[in-house]
Amino acid sequence: MTTYHLRSASPAKTRSDVVVVGALQSGKDVGLAAGAEDVAEAYGRKLRPLLSTLGFTGKPGEVLKLPTAGTISSPLLLVVGLGKDPGHVSVRRAAGAAARAISNASSVALALPADSPTLVRAVIEGFDLGGYTFTAYKRNGTKDAAAKSANTVSLLTGIARQQAALTAMEDALVVSQAVRDTRDWVNLPAADLRPPEFANAVAAAAKKLGRGAKVSTKVYDEEQLADLGCGGILGVGGGSSAPPRLVELTYNPSGAVAHLALVGKGVTYDSGGLSIKTAGGMTTMKCDMAGAAAVVQATFAIARLGLPVKVSAFAPMAENMVSGSAMRPGDVITQYGGTTVEVLNTDAEGRLILADALVRATELKPDVILDVATLTGHMVIALGDRVAGVLGSDDIVGGVLAAGDSAGEAMWPMPIPEAIVDRVKASQIADLLQHDGVRWGGGLFAAAYLREFTADLPWAHLDIAGTAFNSGGAYGHITSGGTGASVTTLVEYARSLIDQ
Ligand code: BES
Ligand code: ZN
Ligand code: MN
Repeated sequence: MTTYHLRSASPAKTRSDVVVVGALQSGKDVGLAAGAEDVAEAYGRKLRPLLSTLGFTGKPGEVLKLPTAGTISSPLLLVVGLGKDPGHVSVRRAAGAAARAISNASSVALALPADSPTLVRAVIEGFDLGGYTFTAYKRNGTKDAAAKSANTVSLLTGIARQQAALTAMEDALVVSQAVRDTRDWVNLPAADLRPPEFANAVAAAAKKLGRGAKVSTKVYDEEQLADLGCGGILGVGGGSSAPPRLVELTYNPSGAVAHLALVGKGVTYDSGGLSIKTAGGMTTMKCDMAGAAAVVQATFAIARLGLPVKVSAFAPMAENMVSGSAMRPGDVITQYGGTTVEVLNTDAEGRLILADALVRATELKPDVILDVATLTGHMVIALGDRVAGVLGSDDIVGGVLAAGDSAGEAMWPMPIPEAIVDRVKASQIADLLQHDGVRWGGGLFAAAYLREFTADLPWAHLDIAGTAFNSGGAYGHITSGGTGASVTTLVEYARSLIDQ
């Protein structure tokens, strides 16, 4: 377990196993960032030329280890690039890169730019997330991870004694814990996290929140889902030997100033069903429950922070598999609330489980509904794997984008063109058509489908198909595998409702 502290000590005089400072790219030169002044002075103005000699430019993600040979009181200096702009986004990423570069240090002193609560939060979040590892399946994993992670991390900052700085650090740790727990759930192999297990894990985690953070849970099993008429969840889950679930969470603080509903896609594995995926298309599909994990963990974080916002979260869970009881292309299902839908592609399953949950969310008449889903490959084609798409009511989309900005998560607005609505309604035999075979703009069609179930309430849909899972190497505070995408943004969005 790592403990974090704020200290106003000088990084030149502090005794830690490693001291971290930031470097800036300025023109062709490398500069030192705020926080590094005392270290630079201890080096007698020789640190910058030294970095240049070593070819260090200060670009984002660049790290360099220097033995200090008595120049400062700690034996090792880690310099990390911030790029050109030392704002909270680059500071968060650099702190993550620093965490990944440090091995076997029991005490770490961070002397990165941190002279405001926003920056304190960015450093702590970035460092704590960059140091994330998933070791559950390594023979000596727990032991190795414990040996590698620092016991004490001190953030050196001039505002160490201000309450706002302490609060920023404590809040950052609540959010980063939620992101870490989301990553854990996403990284679990699908065989070990099928809908009943996922639902149990959520209920158990809610119980453990403790101390004022009261989140109540209700789990609906397959029989209760049949009684409710949740045909989307039952249809998608029908091919699996593990039955589907719907988990509903409520955080209802006294004095709540707003009511936020969150809906997350919880497909614990997406084989495509009878409209089966290619072998390559299936390899990362354990991540298809990342939306559900994110809304659950965001709810936990909002509760632990004690934000005065009521949250109702809905996590429909199903495993999309192939068997004699699987849903067929051509079947008609009935969504919760009675809308009938002609299913033409069983691989467009996310919208079917989300629609049931969205209708349940509308029944509570919340002020805002946000849904989060690894919904379409189209969004990945459009925006790549580091930017999420946001679609829905203009003002809510704007609010989500602003929350993404302050969370340091890249998001981009996408439209729902009016002409698509006719295509969603084009079924010859049912009320709606789930999929019409047109490949272009599939992420927009999916959003148009979802909108049919929002009862015209203020709503936005976050398509995190690209951002939820990092199949490549780590960068900044984003490690390989599950990323915890959107958790921080959802918490920020809840915060923004308080100020309104
Ligand atoms: N879970 C996938 C979307 C996905 C793709 C998530 C890549 C993460 C990475 C979703 O259920 C799906 O299969 N979507 C189809 C929809 C199509 C059949 C309309 C897709 O994107 O091809
Ligand atoms: Zn899917
Ligand atoms: Mn699918």
